[in-house]
Amino acid sequence: MEIKKISPEDTWSIRQSVMWPDKPLTYVQLAEDENGLHYGVFENDELLSVISLFMENDNAQFRKFATQVIHQGKGRGSALLNFLIHECEKQHIKNLWCNARTTAYPFYQKFGFEIVSETWTKDGIEFVKMSKTFKTQI
Ligand SMILES: CC(C)(COP(=O)(O)OP(=O)(O)OC[C@H]1O[C@@H](n2cnc3c(N)ncnc32)[C@H](O)[C@@H]1OP(=O)(O)O)[C@@H](O)C(=O)NCCC(=O)NCCS
Repeated sequence: MEIKKISPEDTWSIRQSVMWPDKPLTYVQLAEDENGLHYGVFENDELLSVISLFMENDNAQFRKFATQVIHQGKGRGSALLNFLIHECEKQHIKNLWCNARTTAYPFYQKFGFEIVSETWTKDGIEFVKMSKTFKTQI
C-alpha cells in the first residue's frame, strides 16, 4: 500500500461511485478542489481510497473521504486518515474538522474526533460536524 498526492480529477470517480452513485460526476466536483490537497491509497497502481484536505490558516477541513466499496474494511481508510492527521501536525494545524456522515462517526471517534454540532440532513443523508483539536507543542 502506498499513499500519494493526487490531482482533484483523480478523486472524482471514487467520490461519485462510493458517495453519490445516483448523481452525475459533476455533483462531486467541488469549486474548491483546485485549492485543496488530495491524497490517495494505491495498491498495484490502482487507486482504492481518496481524501481531500482544505486548509485555512491553522484550520483544516477534510472532505470526500471514500474507499472503493469492494475494498472497504481492510484498513486503507484508517491508513489514509492517519497519514492526513500526521500531515496536519507537520503543518501546525490546530483544528481538523469534517462534516461527517453519521454512519461514519464511530470510525472518526477512534481517531479523536468529537461531535461539535447538531445533526442535519442533506439529500437524505444525515450529517454531523466533527472536530479534532491538536495539542499545541511547547
Ligand atoms: C469511511 C471510509 C472512507 C473508511 O474507509 P475504509 O477503507 O473502509 O476504512 P478502514 O478499513 O480503515 O476502516 C473501516 C472499518 O473497517 C475496520 N477495519 C480496519 N481494518 C480492518 C481489517 N483489516 N479487516 C476488517 N476490518 C477492518 C475498521 O475498524 C473500521 O471499522 P468501524 O467502521 O467499526 O470503525 C469507507 O468506509 C467509505 O468510503 N465509506 C462510504 C463513504 C463515507 O461514508 N465516507 C465518509 C463520509 S464522512
